[in-house]
Amino acid sequence: MVAATLFLAVASALLGVSNAATTDEWKSRSIYQVVVDRFAKTDGSTTATCDELYLFCNGSWTGLVNQLDYIQGMGFTAVQISPVVHNIENDTIVGDAYHGYWQDDLYALNEHFGTKDELLKLSDELHSRDMYFLVDVVVNNMAQAFDNTYPPPIDYALIEPFDNQEYYHTYCNVTEWNNSTNYQDCWLYPLGVALADLYTEKETVIDMFGTWIKGLVSNYSIDGLRIDAAKHVDNAFLPTFVSNAGVFALGEVLTGVVENFCPYQTDGLLPGMPNYLEYYKIISSFNDGSMDDLNTIRNQARDSCNDTAALGSFVENHDMPRFAYYNDDMALAKNALSYIILNDGIPLVYQGQEQHYSGGDTPLNREAIWLSGYNTSAELYQTAKTLNTARNTMINLTATAGTTSYVASQAQSLHVDTNHLCQVKGPSGYQIVSCIVNLSSTGSSYTLSIGGFEAGDEVVELFSCTTSTASNTGNVTMAMDKGQPKAYILQSNLNATGLCNTTTEASASSGGNLARGGASGVSLFLGVVVAALMVVM
Ligand SMILES: *[C@@H]1O[C@H](CO)[C@@H](O)[C@H](O)[C@H]1NC(C)=O
Ligand SMILES: *[C@@H]1O[C@H](CO)[C@@H](O)[C@H](O)[C@H]1NC(C)=O
Ligand SMILES: *[C@@H]1O[C@H](CO)[C@@H](O)[C@H](O)[C@H]1NC(C)=O
Ligand SMILES: *[C@@H]1O[C@H](CO)[C@@H](O)[C@H](O)[C@H]1NC(C)=O
Ligand SMILES: *[C@@H]1O[C@H](CO)[C@@H](O)[C@H](O)[C@H]1NC(C)=O
Ligand SMILES: *[C@@H]1O[C@H](CO)[C@@H](O)[C@H](O)[C@H]1NC(C)=O
Ligand SMILES: *[C@@H]1O[C@H](CO)[C@@H](O)[C@H](O)[C@H]1NC(C)=O
Ligand SMILES: *[C@@H]1O[C@H](CO)[C@@H](O)[C@H](O)[C@H]1NC(C)=O
Ligand SMILES: *[C@@H]1O[C@H](CO)[C@@H](O)[C@H](O)[C@H]1NC(C)=O
Ligand SMILES: *[C@@H]1O[C@H](CO)[C@@H](O)[C@H](O)[C@H]1NC(C)=O
Ligand SMILES: *[C@@H]1O[C@H](CO)[C@@H](O)[C@H](O)[C@H]1NC(C)=O
Ligand SMILES: *[C@@H]1O[C@H](CO)[C@@H](O)[C@H](O)[C@H]1NC(C)=O
Repeated sequence: MVAATLFLAVASALLGVSNAATTDEWKSRSIYQVVVDRFAKTDGSTTATCDELYLFCNGSWTGLVNQLDYIQGMGFTAVQISPVVHNIENDTIVGDAYHGYWQDDLYALNEHFGTKDELLKLSDELHSRDMYFLVDVVVNNMAQAFDNTYPPPIDYALIEPFDNQEYYHTYCNVTEWNNSTNYQDCWLYPLGVALADLYTEKETVIDMFGTWIKGLVSNYSIDGLRIDAAKHVDNAFLPTFVSNAGVFALGEVLTGVVENFCPYQTDGLLPGMPNYLEYYKIISSFNDGSMDDLNTIRNQARDSCNDTAALGSFVENHDMPRFAYYNDDMALAKNALSYIILNDGIPLVYQGQEQHYSGGDTPLNREAIWLSGYNTSAELYQTAKTLNTARNTMINLTATAGTTSYVASQAQSLHVDTNHLCQVKGPSGYQIVSCIVNLSSTGSSYTLSIGGFEAGDEVVELFSCTTSTASNTGNVTMAMDKGQPKAYILQSNLNATGLCNTTTEASASSGGNLARGGASGVSLFLGVVVAALMVVM
């Protein structure tokens, strides 16, 4: 029965006609995630403190429209926003519904964020910039405030359209996170707000959601969805919902276990998911762990999921402590950001990452972006801009050249050790060769020789705008220093990127750092690299 349902869903997905962006088109995008309440105010002011992070800080869709230059300026080509529908208005012991996840009416908009016309304006404005519009949706539950008497005394008549108890699972607390029946059928976190768990196995619920999502996608010209808590709804519900939506979806499957994660894709339940497998290893690899672990999970994900290019590659989101919460070293943050943009998969950057915000657990990780003054000089803003631009350019150039597309060409690891992950991505002639380092800004000066080009290629390093020539084995000599990442492209492609107006020739040895570092320091670190290479071999 389940198999038959799945088959029908997959078949209808294949037959479905839609003008919406396909999974393949989404793979070439780069997504910036916005928590609407915390991104921009309608009047553009940047002074509201927003220090009570459980309450509304009053960002809006219009505020976002007015700050799209800031997002597009970093090279992003898609924007993900908080759920748009009406939420409960109660001021509860767990705060306000500023995040949008406490929906009580799917057919009304969240007036805190704006009006129908303002949401339409956001969609139009994104499309006029050739950016995709991705909206977060909740399918696991509807919400109602309650007084912490159990079972929660829900007044179902107040909920739209699921206005009767028959649409919900009988109350039980989620207590067994290893038992799918338990975490799919019971109610999540019943405290202050009851998240009445929808009976997503039921035909009427499936149909009502189908009608709703078709309407939402079409009314607001939505190009893609994030499906909140996808792991907590019935598996068979997901492909039918995605097929009804007719657009690409990233479903939240929060687990670092390959065997639990990848089946969502290989069984055809979801086209993509935020890549939680790599997420945990990115965090650990940059916090005293080994880059080998990141490389290993990347290989496992490739072996077990069928399309890692459709996974969202991220290191921060609104649910996890920010990267800088663990370690606020700027070089580490720059490397982590570089990795997710240069990796296979759809880069997915959470607002504030570019400003090196450092909040911890929710809601501390939901700081207002206006407090940064939208500083486009911030180091990580510039990092995102450089790498998104390089990636976007390679995507465009490979499309024009008719070669294997940049995104379809899987990244190949060239050199991996405890401290480095060096890779090449993109077909020959359009590749980006990069090295990600976890040594932090206290890392010393040394050189690394890494391949990925053809003999004699003229190349340019995008962060330093220095040029050099690949050796007769196609290697470039990278002047590593202060834990900075490196990203090289062919000089012949530089013009198309618009990056590095002026370039200088890299010094043959190590980019001019030899003198300062002193000979002994350099040989010490060369020794470390040689030792690391020996371990690898
Ligand atoms: C948001 O608006 C509410 C209601 O007008 C107000 O009480 C609150 O102070 C505002 N929050 C901020 C951070 O401006
Ligand atoms: C939540 O707000 C509604 C509407 O104001 C109100 O009727 C209800 O009593 C509130 N619930 C709680 C638990 O305070
Ligand atoms: C979940 O873990 C608990 C305790 O480790 C165990 O008793 C239970 O059988 C497990 N449930 C499933 C479905 O594996
Ligand atoms: C899993 O959870 C369901 C629902 O709570 C429960 O009925 C069942 O006994 C659990 N299974 C195991 C193996 O614990
Ligand atoms: C459910 O969980 C809440 C905490 O989330 C707890 O306070 C409550 O006692 C639990 N109720 C039942 C019936 O298990
Ligand atoms: C979409 O628009 C139609 C026509 O106005 C309306 O009937 C429907 O309820 C809307 N759906 C949603 C989800 O907004
Ligand atoms: C992955 O598997 C799903 C389900 O079988 C299928 O729909 C999808 O096309 C596959 N993707 C790739 C890239 O093979
Ligand atoms: C913007 O960021 C740059 C780089 O961190 C810094 O030098 C500058 O002071 C910031 N500008 C403002 C207005 O904060
Ligand atoms: C890539 O091509 C698109 C569509 O022509 C264009 O809008 C965009 O500016 C190009 N991006 C880069 C970085 O060249
Ligand atoms: C060239 O780079 C590769 C890694 O891509 C490395 O294994 C090899 O040792 C380098 N060759 C030389 C001559 O340094
Ligand atoms: C760089 O591009 C500009 C405009 O696209 C063109 O006029 C110029 O000739 C190009 N320069 C080189 C060196 O290719
Ligand atoms: C690079 O050149 C472009 C076009 O001439 C210009 O808009 C931009 O400001 C220059 N950037 C730098 C860093 O000089």
